[in-house]
Amino acid sequence: MRRIHPYAEDDPDIAAAYAYPRDHWLRLNMVASADGAAWVEGHSEGLSGRADKRIFGLLRGLADVVLAGAATVRTEGYRPARPRESWRAPREGRPPVPPIAVVTRLLDLDLGGPLFTEAEPYARTIVITTEAAPKERRDEAADKAVLIVAGEDRVDLATAVEELRGLGLGRILCEGGPRINAQLAAAGLVDELALTVSPLLAGGDAARILDGVASRTPLTLAQVLEEDGFLFCRYLREAHDDAAG
Ligand SMILES: NC(=O)c1ccc[n+]([C@@H]2O[C@H](COP(=O)([O-])OP(=O)(O)OC[C@H]3O[C@@H](n4cnc5c(N)ncnc54)[C@H](OP(=O)(O)O)[C@@H]3O)[C@@H](O)[C@H]2O)c1
Repeated sequence: MRRIHPYAEDDPDIAAAYAYPRDHWLRLNMVASADGAAWVEGHSEGLSGRADKRIFGLLRGLADVVLAGAATVRTEGYRPARPRESWRAPREGRPPVPPIAVVTRLLDLDLGGPLFTEAEPYARTIVITTEAAPKERRDEAADKAVLIVAGEDRVDLATAVEELRGLGLGRILCEGGPRINAQLAAAGLVDELALTVSPLLAGGDAARILDGVASRTPLTLAQVLEEDGFLFCRYLREAHDDAAG
């Protein structure tokens, strides 16, 4: 791994390179092909590589909570995060792993599956849903997870972020997918984009990393790392470019 922007450096300290600038901060972490596809054959796996997985893991280790849309949780088969030796230092004073928080309206989640049954008590999975979610499923989710109701018909993502902060989970890592990302950006909630550009053309009709309502969030390119042709770009919302160091 080498840093190529804003200065050249071999073997940079990647934990320092991705340190959260503030306690209340929402980082999107996404991988895209060189032509902008957010998935290949329905999954992000085909876009990833060794270094991307390393950074993906590190970013989880730095976060208070991992936020994801229900489609991502379903298609990528989310399970609770597992403690890693390398997380010990960055997580000092915090639980060994961040909980996973899932945004869903339908609550079409496997509530008997590992994401709910294998989460440690200190990192119970969080379900963020709406008043309109089926009542029975909501009651069941409240049994198996920490339940947050943040909106009537749709989850209001600003309310959801406030609720997470209220639980002491201010450093939020959103792992997508594109439909959640578009809503976060439109609500002005994205402080940072950690984007891996994969050296691959994918074509097809995959979404881009934001899919849905149009919005405009000017960004500053704070950092670029490179390994094996993969680019790891760290963009900050322009208002935050003071946090670039
Ligand atoms: N390239 C990458 O880095 C990356 C990262 C993540 C995912 N992906 C790929 O992206 C795809 C999934 O992403 P996606 O954009 O289709 O979906 P998504 O954003 O992961 O999830 C969409 C789902 O989230 C729930 N949701 C979204 N907004 C909501 C709101 N305001 N209120 C209530 N519920 C809401 C709904 O769940 P319910 O249907 O349960 O109501 C909706 O169906 C997969 O193919 C995955 O592999 C790629």
